Amino acid sequence: PTGTRYEAENATIVRGVVESNHAGHTGTGFVNYDNAVGSYVEFTITAANAGTATLAFRFANGTTTNRPMDIVVNGTVIAAGKAFNGTGAWTTWQTATVSAQLNAGANTVRATATTANGGPNLDHLEVTA
Ligand code: GCU
Repeated sequence: PTGTRYEAENATIVRGVVESNHAGHTGTGFVNYDNAVGSYVEFTITAANAGTATLAFRFANGTTTNRPMDIVVNGTVIAAGKAFNGTGAWTTWQTATVSAQLNAGANTVRATATTANGGPNLDHLEVTA
């Protein structure tokens, strides 16, 4: 089934900026996380029904160092230190996926950087029920 896409540039951004200088992103840009622990992007997503969904984070990391993030759904960490490894270039975008249990209706999905390098550049979240 086709997922629903939520652009990071439209999400709630705490300690990060929207940029568009690296090609290949969808929408109008991506989020460049501040290089700090605790910087985050939070999406509010909607599920038609309660149940399992795949959360696919599209990102780029032009360094050779993992930029792990905690994935938090409705306030609960469901994937601690999820890896966002180097993709080879800031213009090379890859997807990292996590399985989550969603409530019917609105849910929050937050991706929080856990190291001083901050998060990767985050393009979008695609949710597939
Ligand atoms: C570079 C790159 C940014 C990236 C940053 C970082 O400045 O151009 O897009 O976010 O490195 O290391 O986080």
